Parts: sequence; C-alpha cells; structure tokens
Amino acid sequence: MGITKIAENKKNAQRTWQYTNSAREAWSNIIEEYKKLYPNAKVLLPSYIGWSANEGSGIFDSVKNAGVDFEFYSLDKYLNIDISDLKDKVNSNENCLVLLVHYFGFTDNKYAEIVQWLDQEKICYIEDCAHAWLTDLVGGKCGRNGKYAFYSLHKILPLSKGGLLVSNQTEETVESLNPFVSLNYDLLTIYNKRRDNYQYLAKKIEDFDNIEILYKELKDGICPQTLPVILNGIDRDALYHKMNELGFGMVSLYHTMIQELHNYNAEACSVTHKKIINFPIHQDVNHNDLDDLIENLKKVLNV
Ligand SMILES: Cc1ncc(COP(=O)(O)O)c(C=O)c1O
Repeated sequence: MGITKIAENKKNAQRTWQYTNSAREAWSNIIEEYKKLYPNAKVLLPSYIGWSANEGSGIFDSVKNAGVDFEFYSLDKYLNIDISDLKDKVNSNENCLVLLVHYFGFTDNKYAEIVQWLDQEKICYIEDCAHAWLTDLVGGKCGRNGKYAFYSLHKILPLSKGGLLVSNQTEETVESLNPFVSLNYDLLTIYNKRRDNYQYLAKKIEDFDNIEILYKELKDGICPQTLPVILNGIDRDALYHKMNELGFGMVSLYHTMIQELHNYNAEACSVTHKKIINFPIHQDVNHNDLDDLIENLKKVLNV
C-alpha cells in the first residue's frame, strides 16, 4: 500500500516502439505476423490507395508481397468510411485484418464509432498513421486503438527514411526505445506550426470558388501532414506542374490508383484521385511563404 516516490510499474501505460526503415516495412511485419496466425485471412483495405513509379504503393506493396488475399471497403469523396460497407465486408470475412488509414493526419468523422464497433466484434485492426504521427503522439487522437499502429517519420521530419511500429498490447515486452529522446526534434513545436499553417492557408483558400478543402474543420488534436483540397473544373496536373515549377512543393496523393481499384465503385477512387492536390503546410513554411503561394496560385489560375 502507499505510493512509491517514482513510477516503478513497467507494465503501466505500456506501448512498444520499434524502429523500421519505413512505414511499409512496419506494415509488412504486421501482415507477416498475422499470416502466421491465420494463413488464409483476408486484409480489408480502404478504397483510396495510390501508386507511383518512384515509390510504388506504400500500402499495397506490403499486401502484394505477402501474397495475402485482400478486399476493399468503400470511402466517399471526402475519404470518410462507408460504415455499412465496412461492416458487411468484415462480417463476410472471418478473421480478416482491417487497415484504417488516417489520411493526411486526419481521423475519420466517425472514427470513435468505427473502432468501438471493431472492438466489440473483436476484429483485428491496424492504424496506418503514416501521415498522422503527431495526431497520435501530440494530439492523442489516433493510433491507440488498433492492435498495432505504424508511422512514417520521413513524412513529418526532414529525414530520408524511417518508420515506427507500435504495439498497443500490454502483454508484449517493452524495448527501452524513446522516440522523443533519440529524435532531436521538438514535436510540439512541429505540431503547432503545422496546425497554424493549415488554418492560415485554409482561410485564404476559402476565397477560391473552385477549390474545396477536404477537411474543412481542423479539430483539436489533429496534426495535418498537408492541406488536401479538391479542385473543381481546374486542370489538376497542369496546376501541379506549374506550381512546382514556381517552387511550391505541391503533391497529389494519390494521383494514380492502384490497378486493383480501377473498377471499384467508390467516389474516393473514382473521383478524388483525379481532383486532389495537397498544399505544403509543414514546419519549414511560414505565413509569408503561404502569402506568396496564394499570389502565385491566383496568377496561375487567372483569378
Ligand atoms: C497512407 C500511407 N501509408 C503508408 C505509406 C508508406 O510510407 P513509407 O514511405 O514510410 O513506407 C504511405 C506512403 O507511401 C502512405 O501514404
């Protein structure tokens, strides 16, 4: 009885961190582990997964390399999960492994309801926090419910590679790895800067009639990786190339769907990938840069 002077319980608030070279390496490790338990299990994937010649597919390559069966569940134009479709697919695939992806650092509108249902049904699900490391670590809004979560350090920090695999199961032994100590960055500063840039730029983008912000609200605890928008009636690829030529690092994630999604019937893969463009809002960007970006955007769009 009583209280010790310092915390001594090694099992308390356990979370096992493992470094990997990339998020996809972590995801591959998870699938390999799952395959050992259920060799015929299916992986259920969201219907928004891209591919590029340089990078391959961060999500799908691991599935393909493991040779496991897979199926997609539907996302709408705003990348929100079609819950009834997810439930149908889960219910018709015994021992499936579900991947939830927190695109661009945001959680699904119904994230709480989804994970509650998956937990209640005792479904094994994984959180892809490749874009959402700080939404998890600083914001505490994702990554703690799935059996595992994985992260892509080079998507948030100026590193050329790096991933993390986190286990949320208390029974595993804890390696004494502490990412806050060995990564020499102030994550709270990065988190705040990204949120501030997001809000600043979003306010300016609201003035453009034909640009629709994908996540209109930046809720507490969310750390955005980029600011994704949908372009209506604008040539996305031309804008992408022009802005990059002008020195503004735009991305279109995912401009090309994996072949397996070409005939899938969900707005995310039939519409969003053609119209999406992501604005940079990372920690190296300041308000003057964003003012400059907007001026150039206006010129390119002739408005
Ligand atoms: C949502 C998502 N998950 C996983 C990955 C894989 O990340 P990494 O490049 O660290 O393997 C990517 C990027 O390719 C991604 O966009």
